[in-house]
Amino acid sequence: MQQVEVLMRCQGADCHPDLRAALEHLLEAGGKRIRPTLGLLTGRMLGAPHERLITLAAAVELLHTATLVHDDLIDGALLRRGIQTLNAQWSPPATVLTGDFVFARAAKLAAETDHLPLMKLFAETLAVIVNGELTQLFAARGVASRENYYKRIYAKTASLIEMTTRAAAMISPMDEAVVEAMRLFGYHLGMAFQIVDDVLDFTGEQAEVGKPVGSDLLQGLVTLPTLYYVDEHPEAPGVQALLAGRYLLERGKMETLVQAIRESDATRLALGEAQDYIDRALQHLSSIPKRAERQALEDLAHYIVNRRI
Ligand code: IPE
Ligand code: IPE
Ligand code: MG
Ligand code: MG
Repeated sequence: MQQVEVLMRCQGADCHPDLRAALEHLLEAGGKRIRPTLGLLTGRMLGAPHERLITLAAAVELLHTATLVHDDLIDGALLRRGIQTLNAQWSPPATVLTGDFVFARAAKLAAETDHLPLMKLFAETLAVIVNGELTQLFAARGVASRENYYKRIYAKTASLIEMTTRAAAMISPMDEAVVEAMRLFGYHLGMAFQIVDDVLDFTGEQAEVGKPVGSDLLQGLVTLPTLYYVDEHPEAPGVQALLAGRYLLERGKMETLVQAIRESDATRLALGEAQDYIDRALQHLSSIPKRAERQALEDLAHYIVNRRI
């Protein structure tokens, strides 16, 4: 991980000093580093060449970082990883361009793995994420459909986590069956990860989570706890306003609804679903020989549902 950090940090060399400072600000804030950790553990478990694996892990985390820079600008979010976002301090043009720069560095690192199918997968995954964000921007407000929800969380989160474990297996001396098992491991982990993120939006403390909480529903974004709640309480205050897209006009009702969901069984039910995804993820690891890295991946999977940040 230290090597990954160093590689990410040196991507700002030779660029405009403000850009370099912005990159340092982004990287210093930390973050959980779940994606590079997953990539490193998967690759080491399967015998991936060291340098390539470090490069891949840095590429994945920078891609993630770039999506967050643009996401916080789009969402108007002022806090991330416990500190001010770039858009809280900088103009939108500077923020957009910094995000673009980080994307470019991520792509360059992906190319340095010297593995054409991996570069293709990298570009395809970015397209899935962007398409998902655009779909959410234009159409997903006030939509209470599970199908729509699962599609959305796949696009915005699970696709990148799936790519990470898959790519780490692709650069390892492994057959197709192992690559597919690791893809499925990442897919299920990623779905669980986003469900937990959506639960934390209701139950988390801003000081712990490090980003604004309770805000999905106030922006009309229906996630799994809300889906459970709406199924059981279609007449509750705020539900009809939300589904009719009047969440901005009836903010008081939305705040009442957030509180009601917090106090209901809905977040526990959603976490149960995340646990089911984790169980399925772990099944895909069962064919891999038991090694220290496999144990660490299992621990990471359990952490994903039990985390508070
Ligand atoms: C945040 O991801 C964005 C989502 C996809 C939910 P993380 O929760 O992994 O963010 P950091 O990197 O730890 O800050
Ligand atoms: C972030 O999505 C996911 C991407 C970076 C594509 P959200 O807007 O739902 O996540 P947070 O709450 O800001 O981390
Ligand atoms: Mg967003
Ligand atoms: Mg956001």
